[in-house]
Amino acid sequence: MSRTPEHAAALRSALARTASGADAGELARATEALVARYRSVAPASAPILASRVRVAAYASYRMPATHAALARVLDAVAARGLAPRSLLDLGGGTGAAAWAAAGVFASLESITVLDQVEDALALGRVLVADAPSPALAGATFRRAFAGAWPDLEADLVTVSYVLSELDERQQDTLVSDAMRRGRTVVVAEPGTPDGYARVLRVRAALLAAGWTLLGPCPHEADCPLAPGDWCHFAARLERSAEHRRLKGAELSYEDEKFSWVAAASPGVVAPRQEGATSGRILRHPLKRKGFVEFQACRPDGTAGREVISKKAGERYRRARDAEWGDTLP
Ligand SMILES: C[S@@+](CC[C@H](N)C(=O)[O-])C[C@H]1O[C@@H](n2cnc3c(N)ncnc32)[C@H](O)[C@@H]1O
Repeated sequence: MSRTPEHAAALRSALARTASGADAGELARATEALVARYRSVAPASAPILASRVRVAAYASYRMPATHAALARVLDAVAARGLAPRSLLDLGGGTGAAAWAAAGVFASLESITVLDQVEDALALGRVLVADAPSPALAGATFRRAFAGAWPDLEADLVTVSYVLSELDERQQDTLVSDAMRRGRTVVVAEPGTPDGYARVLRVRAALLAAGWTLLGPCPHEADCPLAPGDWCHFAARLERSAEHRRLKGAELSYEDEKFSWVAAASPGVVAPRQEGATSGRILRHPLKRKGFVEFQACRPDGTAGREVISKKAGERYRRARDAEWGDTLP
């Protein structure tokens, strides 16, 4: 059973506790500055999380969303039968991916988060202090810089929402550094056309090195999406009152859009379970009376419309429950 809801709730309370001492006006101004900076998508010449208040703002308004996205991604990776014992999170900031991994993988015994910003790591340590899983509560947060990561190895390496802050050369180095250290690598980016473009480059590098894709693609051919389209998914998350106030938002939830790719190194056998060869649902399914219509990426390397009607029996029942981002029943 997924421990993600328990971890999401614990993260929300830890964030509420740490935000309660902060100056509300300062936090709101820092949030505005971060929103504007992340919109610009240019490599950062200096750390974006440049002060403690910016780190606090990031944790309050972005971390729940990156956590929700990574939980969806890692759920899909877990469905391939992986049970990592160690996690290395590169550019892990306040630890969103570590929280997601701890929620998804009960197998985790050790977690290391590396980042250039000491204030982010310090907040990460405070947040995990009462975390529901021992591996997360005992996580190591350590200062390190892209291009000079310590020589650590892990079953799973995550690179979550980091590439957009780097130029292409640094992105390529980060991906090969992740591949050198991990038996499985997961990269997630914002679900925008440029985030997808970065993910496609990572996918090409993983395939060129002979790695096995774990998702989201059900094939290793070129991406079949038409020009102008981009492969992305969404994770719904509840917004806390603090989150709503910081963003000046009224809705009690938001949909975090993300693009991702995950792959296993040649030595790691990707278990061929159900899901490994099924299509991937690329949009919200249209659930009509007697049939469900999907846009899906298919194992034969094509993408398009799939209809599952009532006549399909059990498959139709599973289609009624299927969501955007799931494997096609
Ligand atoms: C948008 S945040 C993402 C944080 C976290 N991975 C998440 O998903 O919430 C990008 C992170 O990458 C880190 N980062 C960017 N460039 C870096 C570099 N050159 N070396 C180490 N960390 C870097 C930043 O400090 C920041 O914590």
